[in-house]
Amino acid sequence: MAGRVEGKVALVTGGASGLGAESCRRLAREGAKVVLTDLAAEAGQAVADDILAAGGEARFLGQDVTDQARWAEVVAATMERHGRIDVLVNSAGVGNGGEPILEATLEGWRRIIGINLDGTFLGIRHVAPVMAAQGAGSIVNLSSILGKVGLPGASAYCASKGGVALLTKAVALELAPAGVRVNSVHPGFIETPMVVNAFRESESENEMRDMIVSRHAMGRLGMAREIADAIVFLASDEASFMTGSELVIDGGYTAA
Ligand SMILES: NC(=O)c1ccc[n+]([C@@H]2O[C@H](COP(=O)([O-])OP(=O)(O)OC[C@H]3O[C@@H](n4cnc5c(N)ncnc54)[C@H](O)[C@@H]3O)[C@@H](O)[C@H]2O)c1
Repeated sequence: MAGRVEGKVALVTGGASGLGAESCRRLAREGAKVVLTDLAAEAGQAVADDILAAGGEARFLGQDVTDQARWAEVVAATMERHGRIDVLVNSAGVGNGGEPILEATLEGWRRIIGINLDGTFLGIRHVAPVMAAQGAGSIVNLSSILGKVGLPGASAYCASKGGVALLTKAVALELAPAGVRVNSVHPGFIETPMVVNAFRESESENEMRDMIVSRHAMGRLGMAREIADAIVFLASDEASFMTGSELVIDGGYTAA
């Protein structure tokens, strides 16, 4: 039986960990040829090796998503190997919990915006021309519930993710005539290294976890699989009439 993204070429940033890594595994399992990139070379190569061992197709490339010249190289390498790019998942990102605005620095702000927002812009800027020339493609941007509602101590993160949501909509309108769909995904708090490390770095790990869990109506954190499955859906032709959409997957966090 053909997979849900059979034969598609998927480029995934932040593919070494968390939601990016799980998306790579599930895209590959559903028949995609995956090119995954990350700063973390060892972990990224391990994800690619796992996929290959499971009979899938994957290649790891080192990449800092804030480096424009590297984006050109990653796109060129992907085109050289596969001749097309059908899916771009912009998952590379960093958190910034626990930085009150009264203590925030311009340097810290620029770091978060640079990776989460500029990195997503650069991904779109470099891959969209390929997709437009093909007349088809799907771009999936990792925003967050924190691109919809605020969280104290996370102003730069919230600004970056709000930016990703509206960047997604503007670009979706521009690229629709070219057959390219662009959507954002808005996870609640998901059990990944980003979230687990943030709990660990807080004053009281258990209290912080309990407080965050209590904000999800379903009374638990999400699992990476629950986001990756939605990313596969948006990447696939099942989502052929979806563009400019915000797919919220948050166990009820923003329903209140
Ligand atoms: N985990 C959550 O609860 C959650 C919720 C909402 C949104 N998100 C978003 O989903 C995305 C993935 O998050 P995650 O939880 O998987 O985090 P994670 O920390 O597990 O993985 C993020 C990956 O991005 C990579 N990365 C960081 N900076 C980079 C850079 N400059 N260039 C290339 N790679 C870089 C890291 O090395 C890491 O492998 C992020 O954009 C995050 O903001 C996560």
